Amino acid sequence: MNSVQGRFITFEGGEGVGKSTQIRRAAAWLEAQGVVVVLTREPGGTPRAEQLRRILLERTDEPMPQSCELLLMFAARASHLANLIEPAVARGAWVLCDRFTDATYAYQGGGRGLPAADIDALVRIVHPQRQPDLTVLLDAPVAVGMARARARNGTGGPDRFESERAEFFERVRQNYLQRAAQESGRFRVVDATGALEHVEAAIRAALQPMLVTQAPSR
Ligand code: TMP
Repeated sequence: MNSVQGRFITFEGGEGVGKSTQIRRAAAWLEAQGVVVVLTREPGGTPRAEQLRRILLERTDEPMPQSCELLLMFAARASHLANLIEPAVARGAWVLCDRFTDATYAYQGGGRGLPAADIDALVRIVHPQRQPDLTVLLDAPVAVGMARARARNGTGGPDRFESERAEFFERVRQNYLQRAAQESGRFRVVDATGALEHVEAAIRAALQPMLVTQAPSR
């Protein structure tokens, strides 16, 4: 019988806030506490969703309509939820997911300007029952994140999102912060401008209370 409760924890933030590094560190720390962790990301996480990720990030000559981008994000999410997230949570794992639907509200809603009501409608179709148990929002001024993202890109060049302008990322950031304020019970906002170790400690502090409530049930 499964004696531990699965969790769904998401990590969010703009470009270059250090999300990928921090989520890996958080996963390693949780594993050291005896937690079974599944580390995944969006868009992506399963073979089909990763194919959709390539389509979403690739820069090509064919312009991508905003509705196409929105629907592909949710198409990838539907496959990811059904084939990876839900089964893992059901068997008691803690799923740590690098971005989820809050990113759609921030990027397609805040960044692109699509109505939140359209995103709400897709949430009702794709995951009416599933919400993250906790969302860690790594926050940094846009200029700081963009400089880090540029340094990281090296010769690969920016993807379709990274090539957006600073104003776009400012709207993304403000949308994230607004959502965090509206849903303060679920969100933990972490200042991502500090040293790696300070950010890591703040994330551990956000996760710690969930470990305490992880006592085996009967
Ligand atoms: P990543 O850089 O965190 O791997 O994410 C890939 C890009 O996809 C990133 O620029 C943000 C974007 N994105 C959205 O625009 N909407 C979404 O719903 C998700 C999950 C990601």
